[in-house]
Amino acid sequence: MSTTTLPSPGLSIGPIDVASPVVLAPMAGITNTAYRRLCREYGAGLYVSEMITSRALVERTPESMRLIQHHESETLRSIQLYGVEPNTVAEAVTMLVAEDRADHIDLNFGCPVAKVTRRGGGAALPWKLGLFREIVERAVRAAGDVPVTVKMRKGIDADHLTYLEAGRAAEGAGVASIALHARTASEFYSGTADWSAIATLKETIGSVPVLGNGDIWSAADALRMVDETGCDGVVVGRGCLGRPWLFGDLAAAFRGEDAKAEPTLGEVAAAFRRHAELLVEFYDGDEPHACRDIRKHVAWYFKGYPVGGETRASLAAVESLQQMDDLLSTLDGSQEYPGEAAEGPRGRAGSPKRPSLPDRWLESRELDVAFKAELAAAELHHSGG
Ligand SMILES: Cc1cc2nc3c(=O)[nH]c(=O)nc-3n(C[C@H](O)[C@H](O)[C@H](O)COP(=O)(O)O)c2cc1C
Repeated sequence: MSTTTLPSPGLSIGPIDVASPVVLAPMAGITNTAYRRLCREYGAGLYVSEMITSRALVERTPESMRLIQHHESETLRSIQLYGVEPNTVAEAVTMLVAEDRADHIDLNFGCPVAKVTRRGGGAALPWKLGLFREIVERAVRAAGDVPVTVKMRKGIDADHLTYLEAGRAAEGAGVASIALHARTASEFYSGTADWSAIATLKETIGSVPVLGNGDIWSAADALRMVDETGCDGVVVGRGCLGRPWLFGDLAAAFRGEDAKAEPTLGEVAAAFRRHAELLVEFYDGDEPHACRDIRKHVAWYFKGYPVGGETRASLAAVESLQQMDDLLSTLDGSQEYPGEAAEGPRGRAGSPKRPSLPDRWLESRELDVAFKAELAAAELHHSGG
């Protein structure tokens, strides 16, 4: 545990006070209302939706309308938007605010996946600083009193860093906080996040909180990030996969308490079961759909616990809650927390790749006139991963 001064226990994002300086990272296919509710049951923080495509939202596609749902227990309704075209992003923000569907809106400038960067979106976008500024300004204006934040990466690659200029532009545009995933797009999820970039951004941004993101696997990591970078809060993604209780550890750590959840196998199984139940609600009672969704979480929940290969495989093919219960009942719930084997990295890793970008994207930081005309067509039409 860090011995230096802890940050103030809370975090202010514009008018919003978050009890703990902890944000659940938006994760497509993961941070739906079911998972956010589960995480909230363990700790305090800001729990952000998975990314919603502005175009799809404006078109009110059924999938987008489902993904922006919040449960009544989610008192801070946080939605992440993705977009490349300023009018569409502004329209999406206007819709969310006019219909009172969000208390906080985050803008995604960090996605490195090819289908996004190939269209100039996500982590590719801040390279065109004027376009970035216009999107953020339009979103802030359309949001009125609802705080708008940005989440970004360091840049496209080591030779095309964007985070400091983009951070200053976002601050100037009136955002309420700036989160940095301290990797470039070309690094994807490989290697280790460069926390020194978070420290540099914190030194650069004076008026709004800077949130650090990347490779927080435990509450101790979160305190260390704050200690090493001076950031005002942390954003936690993969570290909480299969471990929603991490939010309890984080809240305790930021209160200065050294409490760490060490669940027995029975407690893990109960959390897994609860997650599945919440997914059934999220899918409007469609149990087979919820069961298909929970399968990807099996390896994360049971990492390090003595669960045989056959049971794991059956859990990862489960088709009903009854079948899940039958399988879980075969486990020895009294098995103690296995320690380190249950901790550490999980989720996406992979190796560096050259990001897919629109033609001649890196030649200039100004937006090509021809591309500007095509921006509307560059919007994605699907929300989620
Ligand atoms: C499965 C998955 C889905 C993700 N989806 C999104 C997303 O929709 N929006 C976004 O801004 N970042 C997304 N990310 C990136 C995370 O928010 C986060 O920045 C990244 O995982 C680094 O943090 P971590 O080391 O704590 O995982 C995703 C990451 C993962 C692993």
